[in-house]
Amino acid sequence: MSDNNFVVVANRLPVDLHTAPDGTRTWTPSPGGLVAALTPVLEKHNGCWVGWPGVVGDAPEPFRTERGVLLHPVKLSQADFEGFYEGFSNATLWPLYHDLIVTPVYDRDWWHVYREVNLRFADEVAAVAAEGATVWIQDYQLQLLPGILRQLRPDLTIGFFLHIPFPAPDLFAQLPWRMELVRGLLGADLVGFHLEANARNFLALARRFGIEVSGEVSTREVTAHLELNNGRRVGVGAFPISIDAAAMNEWSAADLGGAERLHADLGHERTVILGVDRLDYTKGILQRLKAFEELLDTGALNPEDVCLVQIATPSRERITSYRKTRSQVEEAVGRINGRFAQIGAPVVHYRHTSVPKDELRRYYRMADVMLVTPFKDGMNLVAKEYIACHGDDSGALVLSEFAGAAVELTQAYLCNPFDIESIKKALRDAVVGLHNQPEVLAERMHAMHAQVMEHDVDLWANSFLDCLEKK
Ligand code: ADP
Ligand code: G6P
Repeated sequence: MSDNNFVVVANRLPVDLHTAPDGTRTWTPSPGGLVAALTPVLEKHNGCWVGWPGVVGDAPEPFRTERGVLLHPVKLSQADFEGFYEGFSNATLWPLYHDLIVTPVYDRDWWHVYREVNLRFADEVAAVAAEGATVWIQDYQLQLLPGILRQLRPDLTIGFFLHIPFPAPDLFAQLPWRMELVRGLLGADLVGFHLEANARNFLALARRFGIEVSGEVSTREVTAHLELNNGRRVGVGAFPISIDAAAMNEWSAADLGGAERLHADLGHERTVILGVDRLDYTKGILQRLKAFEELLDTGALNPEDVCLVQIATPSRERITSYRKTRSQVEEAVGRINGRFAQIGAPVVHYRHTSVPKDELRRYYRMADVMLVTPFKDGMNLVAKEYIACHGDDSGALVLSEFAGAAVELTQAYLCNPFDIESIKKALRDAVVGLHNQPEVLAERMHAMHAQVMEHDVDLWANSFLDCLEKK
């Protein structure tokens, strides 16, 4: 048996494999908050990470990264990619768990593939985990895995963490395979969510299915349990995820100079508003563009004084709702520039690409206002990253009430992304506040910075793993 005592399993590895036409293989960081949060945790634990390398039909031999993480690639075929990844994970579960922003598709074939791929992940993990190891399973793509793995390897300690919201029982109940998913999750010793509200939804659902619940949910400790018929107990708790805040907060003179130059390129005197997201319909990118456009239209913002920079990572590009969102966003960018830009001076700067972390940090640092407007988001690490980059108390955050981060970042300019007037008000208040009430904004930023620095990703991982150990 293998000697991996700590194994993380996620659909994605932290790196994506790219093979050039001449066969040369390179790895690039993979997208999303899950990978951003877990990478530093695994590096500290010298752990083993089981996951998909981001390409179809290829799974290189396991290897160790320069920073000591053992990567164990799992192969997905084209049919797996379509049925498990694009289908059941991202066209069924993703929209269902994000409160039906688009309509979920319930497809029996996708469900079968989802089950098969979860079985395959279980075999892989069973082969790499040491006797009595701790296995930490991540996210909605692998909800059957705890149950399957417990049957295969009853010696393991199994944790499960959901990185996206958990919906109200009435929404979850739409799912034709709802019981199977709940049974899958019950294979874990501890099930963690970002927010107490998510955990309460899960407990309400369990009660509805006749499972006995004891205790009340709390944050970073386990005071609620599901009591199973076979005498086993499953802990349930809230563990708000976070970022490697210290790394984000460290600024050399060269980094600071780079951020200043970036701002100067956009216009020294201009107020720079920034959006950074995966290009996903949950993120409300179109709505924020429309709010910005209306503020320009009414003269509340002057196109000579402000600009908006939107950096959007390509994501799930073949799925219809993602294609539609991209074309709507790009149409809006074109329209707004057509209406308000001057030659050589766009009002919206749009990049459809992933950028290296260092560059992203410079964007965060130079931005006067950060716009984070998801319709629904488990946490939203972008909001926390922006805050961590502003240890000098500069800047302002406009944040959707429907992002999990709003529970902690209460000093943000909160808005309701379903109400365009609400986004406009929050954005205008932030822009005007920068000039009229700089000391108020600095106080707000100071409080949020302290919150993010104290509640970093180590606290998230350690509190979850401590609770799991005490199960
Ligand atoms: P999600 O997990 O839904 O994508 P989060 O906001 O929680 O949303 O996490 C997104 C992560 O991806 C953050 O760590 C952020 O820095 C990173 N990210 C987002 N957009 C880009 C981009 N264009 N280039 C590089 N990293 C990005
Ligand atoms: C979110 C999900 C992750 C996912 C990431 C990127 O953060 O919670 O599980 O990995 O988005 O999405 P992708 O589909 O590219 O893996």
